[in-house]
Amino acid sequence: MEKILVLDFGGQYNQLIARRVRELHVYAEIRPYHKLTPAELKQAGYKGIIFTGGPNSVYDPASPHFDPAVLELGIPILGICYGDQLMAYMAGGEVCSAGQFGEYGRTRLTVAEHPLFEGVPTESICWMSHMDYISTPPAGFTTIAHTEHCPCAAMCDDGRRLYGVQFHPEVTHTEYGTQMLRNFLFPICGCTGDWRVEDWVERSIASLRTKLAGKSVLLALSGGVDSSVAAMLLHHAVGERLTCVFVDHGLLRKGEAELVEQTFRGRFGEKLICVDARERFLTKLAGVVEPERKRKIIGEEFIRVFEAEAKRLGKTDVLAQGTIYPDVIESGKGDSAVIKSHHNVGGLPDVIAFDELVEPLRDLFKDEVRRAGETLGLPHEMVWRQPFPGPGLAVRILGAITEERLHLLREADAIFREEIAAAALPTAPSQYFAVLTDARSVGVMGDARTYGCTVALRAVDTDDFMTAAWSRLPYAVLDRASSRITNEVPGISRVVYDISSKPPATVEWE
Ligand code: XMP
Repeated sequence: MEKILVLDFGGQYNQLIARRVRELHVYAEIRPYHKLTPAELKQAGYKGIIFTGGPNSVYDPASPHFDPAVLELGIPILGICYGDQLMAYMAGGEVCSAGQFGEYGRTRLTVAEHPLFEGVPTESICWMSHMDYISTPPAGFTTIAHTEHCPCAAMCDDGRRLYGVQFHPEVTHTEYGTQMLRNFLFPICGCTGDWRVEDWVERSIASLRTKLAGKSVLLALSGGVDSSVAAMLLHHAVGERLTCVFVDHGLLRKGEAELVEQTFRGRFGEKLICVDARERFLTKLAGVVEPERKRKIIGEEFIRVFEAEAKRLGKTDVLAQGTIYPDVIESGKGDSAVIKSHHNVGGLPDVIAFDELVEPLRDLFKDEVRRAGETLGLPHEMVWRQPFPGPGLAVRILGAITEERLHLLREADAIFREEIAAAALPTAPSQYFAVLTDARSVGVMGDARTYGCTVALRAVDTDDFMTAAWSRLPYAVLDRASSRITNEVPGISRVVYDISSKPPATVEWE
């Protein structure tokens, strides 16, 4: 299979670059710059290399550099932003501080005729974010684009197949960014576009079948997309030797435990173990109001329950997890630096006896995991479900968690989800849910005074959940959700809509 290397110099859009390349059906992998030498890189047989952006200036002694021998390997290279400047610096060009002429955001770009810009109009909008710029391109390079303040917005050395762009073709604000990436991948690198998730599914089942021959496999099934897809994949590979344990901690949304059981019972039969641990979790959580304490209790208790099941089942050869590519990159489990520690219900490998850990989805991005799920025949509502935090509704109830308060939240949340579904919005928010606040307020119903709970509705739009904008939902949707909640859920007398973005707020309230 053809591969593109995304050589990571610490830029914020690195995952996006790899995703864009894969969307064009070429497999891309991200590797940190300090983990590879030009010789290893040549050996790996990449069809092309993309140098990513980065937060540094090339003249900063602490800035990431790379062996200039890479420029002589005959492999096409595209440098983006810092990667562009680094290429210029490595090849003997000059990079300067742009001072007050640094460019940020949408910028008008003028391009020359060049294969990299095939199908791109002379004038278009690109996305810039730089403090330095290339003042003199290296010998052998030609300037092929400029902006008002950036004399060399793109450069090329066609003989050596080296290209650099100061702007970010991977972000959607660059109008013809995808076209430029396409031009780099196909005519320039000579890729054919052989990356298909459907093929990956087949290959992966075949290789898991060999790798796990005769072994018993245990998977904690949360009902989320990742563990569900991992379960289906493993089931195809090892059949009856896969056991899935689903722990119902009582903090799930309305209908969720039933959906998981319905989806998998028919397929896995007795190999699906549903543990009803609702009482156990509620007892542990009684009277706990502090968010971090709730998270800790749930994480620990989850492990205890899972561990007890694993013990009951006897020794397992292999423990499987639904880790996906962004988890590998973000939690530093792979080779790159820790960006944020992954806050899933974790820690299983430390406490359970097993010989081997398999993470069959560790090379896939979320959208690819979803496509794999569809290929494997998982129901649409399971594959396209929004993320749901491991600690569940516990972090959406401010204050103490009781069966009664869980009931109020479940009902309000279900109504909000139904109304969003009924509205059939052109694009649904990335995540949307209800929060039961600890505020009570006075209301009136019929002629009587009420003193009920306040529910907050939350909906956000985001690509990566590290930043998020509050969703501009149509008033009609909010109106219907609000009146249905106050009419249909006794005990809730007020509904508010959360209009905070992240940062400074987070997506969840706790
Ligand atoms: P925050 O609230 O950190 O949420 O802005 C970002 C995304 O992460 C989810 N989230 C969690 N997921 N365990 C999880 O598995 C957790 O403890 C947790 N906390 C937040 C949240 O739902 C959102 O999608």
